[in-house]
Amino acid sequence: MKIIAIANQKGGVGKTTTSINLAASLAVRGARVLLLDLDPQGNASSALGVPCEEGQSLYSVLAGPDSVDDKIQSTRFPTLHVIPATTELAGAEVELVKADNHLVRLREVLEPLRAQNRFDYLLIDCPPSLGILMTSALSAADGLLIPIQCEYFGLEGLARIVDIHQQIISSGINAGVQLEGILMTMYDGRTSHARAVVEEVRKAFEDIVYRTVIPRSIAVAESQSFEKALLEYDSSNRATLAYKALADEFLARQPVKC
Ligand SMILES: Nc1ncnc2c1ncn2[C@@H]1O[C@H](COP(=O)(O)OP(=O)(O)OP(=O)(O)O)[C@@H](O)[C@H]1O
Ligand SMILES: [Mg+2]
Repeated sequence: MKIIAIANQKGGVGKTTTSINLAASLAVRGARVLLLDLDPQGNASSALGVPCEEGQSLYSVLAGPDSVDDKIQSTRFPTLHVIPATTELAGAEVELVKADNHLVRLREVLEPLRAQNRFDYLLIDCPPSLGILMTSALSAADGLLIPIQCEYFGLEGLARIVDIHQQIISSGINAGVQLEGILMTMYDGRTSHARAVVEEVRKAFEDIVYRTVIPRSIAVAESQSFEKALLEYDSSNRATLAYKALADEFLARQPVKC
């Protein structure tokens, strides 16, 4: 099982949209995917129609004796499962910091899942802050996928998250976390501004940037309001096709299994 943190401390860049739609697109390709919603806002779980009820998030696993297995819920996609988020997860920021092992606690509680070989990929939808939840996700992850919006403010955010990634490695908290990929989101090809931002990011990060760029589409917000993945809402929409292409590109980057 490979753990991928989908993270950027900047808000509203497409982390949750990418988590939902990459997870669903990988699942329809036959991958066994677990989506861990680590954002107390709970948008990733609700967008897949999974209710965010008290007691169902990872909070009681992080803070107490509960087992991670008990929090896994099924979705309409047979090979996609979700651990939902609730507002109680916000309490984990406060609770966890009291424990000595707070930065590696998430890694520890996910360990049984690695041992089980029940999932191929565990995607973590991170909250938009530099708090303990996001740091824990980076400490537990094998890979970091950074969505950035195609605009100049996005570039500042990118520099910051790349810095944080380096700190996680150099501090020894998680020396093995790789930069899995950078995903350009909400692209509006009519503006030279968006094209210039994509060009700049590609110049700096070369092949780490996915060739697939996610276009801006109203179907994204619509699908979320209907609590559906894009694939279920409009299978031929260009954002749907882009997330499918991203899933293919993501899979092509994985080492071949023997
Ligand atoms: N490709 C897209 N086209 C149009 N709208 C989009 C697209 N991607 C995301 N959005 C919209 O932009 C908003 C922010 O997206 P999203 O919630 O995925 O970002 P986020 O990084 O998870 O935000 P937060 O930091 O608050 O967790 C949402 O309203 C979403 O519907
Ligand atoms: Mg989000």
